[in-house]
This record gives sequence, C-alpha cells and structure tokens, in this order.
Amino acid sequence: MTDQTREEYGASAEAIEHHYGTGNDYFSLWLGETMAYSSALWDDDDEHQSLDDAQRAKIHYHCEQARADKAKSVLDIGCGWASVLMPLANHYKVDNVVGLTLSESQETWINGLNHPNVEARLESWKDHDASAKYDSIISIGAFEHFAKLGSTSEEKVEFYREFFRKCHGWLDSKGHMSLQTVAYGNALPGSFDPFLAAEIFPETDTPFLAEIAKGCEHLFHVMTLRNDAEHYRRTLRAWYNNIRQNRARCVELKGEEEVARFEKYLRLCSYMYEVGGLELYRITFRKIDNPKRF
Ligand SMILES: C[S@@+](CC[C@H](N)C(=O)[O-])C[C@H]1O[C@@H](n2cnc3c(N)ncnc32)[C@H](O)[C@@H]1O
Repeated sequence: MTDQTREEYGASAEAIEHHYGTGNDYFSLWLGETMAYSSALWDDDDEHQSLDDAQRAKIHYHCEQARADKAKSVLDIGCGWASVLMPLANHYKVDNVVGLTLSESQETWINGLNHPNVEARLESWKDHDASAKYDSIISIGAFEHFAKLGSTSEEKVEFYREFFRKCHGWLDSKGHMSLQTVAYGNALPGSFDPFLAAEIFPETDTPFLAEIAKGCEHLFHVMTLRNDAEHYRRTLRAWYNNIRQNRARCVELKGEEEVARFEKYLRLCSYMYEVGGLELYRITFRKIDNPKRF
C-alpha cells in the first residue's frame, strides 16, 4: 500500500472529532453510566433490563471473549470514554491497558482519570507502535470508521487486511481479539445514508461480512460470530429515550438544531436495524501463528 493510499483510508481525526468532540457532558446525558457508545448486549428474555446492565453485559462479554482474565496487557482500539479500559484494569486486574482514540476530548478525559495501569493514546491504529506484545485485543464500534465512503470493495478489503495484519503483529502467540462492528445487511453497496454521511459520521463506510472475512484470511481463525442486530435497535431506542428525558439540558448544551439532528440519526439507525439494512456483528478471532500448506 502506498503512503498516499494509507492516508486516504478511514475517517480522519477531524472527521472523528466532528462527532465525538461534541462534548463529554452532552454524551454523558444519554449514553448512561458506562459511557459506552456502541450496542449493548441485551437479555432477550428481560424486557425491563436497564441500558446500564446491558452495557455492562456487553463489556464483560468482550473481555471474556478476548480472555482478559488471563491477560497482563490488553489493547482497546477505538476506546471511546474508557468503558472497557476501566473494567480491564479494575475488574480483570490487567497491568497494562492501552486505549487508542482519534478524539482529543476522549483522550484528555481518560488520562484525567489518572489510573496508573491505563493509558489513552491520541493515535490511529495505523500509527500504533507496540513496545511489547499484547495478550488480547478488543475493538468495539470503531471498525466502522476504518474505510471511507466511496472506496471500492477491493479497497475496503485491503484497508481491513492492513488492520488485521497489524493486530496479528501486536498479538502474542494464539492471542484472542474480540471485535464488534456494524455491517451492511440487506442493503446494497454504497447505501450509507446521505444524511448520516454528511452530518453525523463523515468519511465513514460500513463493512460487509465478506469483506471482514477476506480481510482476516490466513491471519486469524474466526472462533465465534454472532449477529445481534436487534440489540442495536434496542440500544438506539434507549439512547433516544434518554435524550427525550433530558432534552432541556441537552438543548442548553448543544442547541435545538444539534439535538434534533441527533434524534433524527438515532431514529434513522433504529429503522435501518428494523428493516434488516444493518447487522451488528460480534466476532471472536484467534491468531494464526503459522499458516501452513497441508
Ligand atoms: C463509536 S465509538 C466506540 C467507543 C467504545 N469502543 C465504546 O464502545 O464505547 C468509536 C471510537 O473509535 C475511535 N476511532 C475511530 N477511528 C479510529 C482509528 N483509526 N484509530 C483509533 N481509534 C479510532 C474513535 O475515536 C472512538 O473512540
């Protein structure tokens, strides 16, 4: 891959901050206690489950899939507001917890918590230089930003492959990685909604499952794959309801126009899950140490 292509793929830091830099106080009004900004993992048999409980279930699911209980060093790619970093350090007792984000406000926020075992870096995975191998990798809700809208499927596969190559290099022998990403369902290529592309998530496209599979070929075993599309619909509805309940304060912080924009985005994405346009994959990978010819 040339340097020029390398710079072109995925959302830029400016595009990321356009969305995530809209204010920590604002996001804390509707994301809930965990500040997790990705689909929760809901109990299908419990219609009264709270968003915070379902988010905690999601966090533990990924930590378990990544084998964090046995890990000394874990990388979280696209760490948001530390929803996974803090449980890794506090609950799973991981000594070295590193989070990557492209959002300056998230990095400042996390490092301001001053946890001795947690470090947030304002850095893209493309530029990450690991000083030692990680035992586990987790990446939740960031993969969606790794290819730009307008890229061909072949280009997307090459970008994803570069991501998997890097993760492969950073992971220790037989290391596990737990990934969560939105993907296209019954939508045709290039169906990313124009409103979302222009006003909410610039420079972003979503993968197809086949592109993810092609990207990790010969590098990772796929150990488990689940599709929890309905869980994202439920999460989006919970966020929307939280905004409605805290609307006056949200408007005070962001103004009427911005809050209405977020409400539209949450309703639109919820509809996309309802009609099968989007999927929510949680995939567990195990590193292939030496691909062989049998
Ligand atoms: C939707 S948030 C998810 C945050 C968190 N994982 C969670 O579940 O709450 C996406 C995160 O991906 C990060 N991100 C996007 N592109 C990235 C890149 N190229 N390298 C590192 N982080 C990136 C953003 O900065 C943001 O923290």
